Amino acid sequence: MMMSKLFLVLSVLVLLTCLSFGRPSEYGHEQLEEEVLFERWQKEHGREYGNQEEKAKRFQIFQRNLRHINELNAKRKSPTQHRLGLTKFADMSPEEFHKTYLKPIQTPSNFFNSGKLYKTHDDDCQNLPHSVDWRDKGAVTQVRDQGQCKSDWAFSVSGAIEGLNKIVTGNLVTLSVQELVDCDPASHGCAGGFYFNAFGYVIKNGGIDTEANYPYIAKNGTCKENAQKVVSIDNLLVVVGPEEALLCRVSKQPVSVSIDATGLQLYSGGIYGGDHCSKNSTKATLVCLIVGYGSVGGEDYWIVKNSWGKGWGDKGYLLIKRNVSDEWPHGVCAINAAPGFPIKKAASSRLSAAI
Ligand SMILES: *[C@@H]1O[C@H](CO)[C@@H](O)[C@H](O)[C@H]1NC(C)=O
Ligand SMILES: *[C@@H]1O[C@H](CO)[C@@H](O)[C@H](O)[C@H]1NC(C)=O
Ligand SMILES: *[C@@H]1O[C@H](CO)[C@@H](O)[C@H](O)[C@H]1NC(C)=O
Repeated sequence: MMMSKLFLVLSVLVLLTCLSFGRPSEYGHEQLEEEVLFERWQKEHGREYGNQEEKAKRFQIFQRNLRHINELNAKRKSPTQHRLGLTKFADMSPEEFHKTYLKPIQTPSNFFNSGKLYKTHDDDCQNLPHSVDWRDKGAVTQVRDQGQCKSDWAFSVSGAIEGLNKIVTGNLVTLSVQELVDCDPASHGCAGGFYFNAFGYVIKNGGIDTEANYPYIAKNGTCKENAQKVVSIDNLLVVVGPEEALLCRVSKQPVSVSIDATGLQLYSGGIYGGDHCSKNSTKATLVCLIVGYGSVGGEDYWIVKNSWGKGWGDKGYLLIKRNVSDEWPHGVCAINAAPGFPIKKAASSRLSAAI
């Protein structure tokens, strides 16, 4: 606090000195503002660097990101359009960000022939509500932070089961992501995984443990043999076009999706329309969770829960445009490519509620 005030006072002094010399250099002024912003950002995100060299390197990257942010925000065409900002990833280059957090999602080639597809929308899909937000219905746990472990797939799967469990049993329980990272033999822990495999693990295993019993450590661990089967699911279905089917399902429960998150490093809120991401269903790089939908100013969007903590996006959430003409299997950032959701029968839910 002291330091930042001191820095601010010093900056103002230097600025005044510049001004008093008549012609302050544009660049010098900008540099100063950027330094102030960098110090403030470091404090906000608790970021410290080992040495001055590293700090100087990070500042350079931060400056580049900051200029990109200002440039893009100046071009926004409407107040609902997405904004960029100094997210927790503001000192990473786009390449570093990509390497650390994203991974091409490999859909098994036989996947769409697996016979468990949710194709048509049910009779009860007529007259859907104009908006749905499962957070308001208490079916969504806190946004969490996967850290430097590519466990986005496991957060998505545990989140989908948490939501469904709340809807079926009335209990909101935070479930173990670490169990999926450690125990799902068909996924690759912190090296990435496919969400349908993880649902399959929970079905086969007969349930999943809670976060409290089996906490997240953001790295590969050994599967605990004494993991409890606290919440179970019975099946898994995949949404196959058109977008109304996905909308209908989201009106019933949170749904796991994969997206191409390449353009999202500095996303800070508003409706993301898909600049800098691929809509090709083979190019998805991140697994996350749709927890609702809505519309504002004639624009329709999905509400997406991510696992990058609250220092990114809209307190950890992303609004992504929906109802664009280019539908399944595309959608903005390929969000319509492979949505999946678990099924839980009321009988087994009573059983798990009793535990
Ligand atoms: C975690 O384990 C997976 C295998 O399940 C392996 O492919 C990956 O390299 C490991 N990641 C780390 C960071 O050790
Ligand atoms: C999507 O990407 C794949 C793999 O790169 C490519 O073969 C395919 O043609 C692309 N599809 C479209 C519609 O661009
Ligand atoms: C999609 O957009 C059209 C207008 O472009 C609107 O009439 C329709 O209701 C929207 N559909 C959904 C499901 O929001």
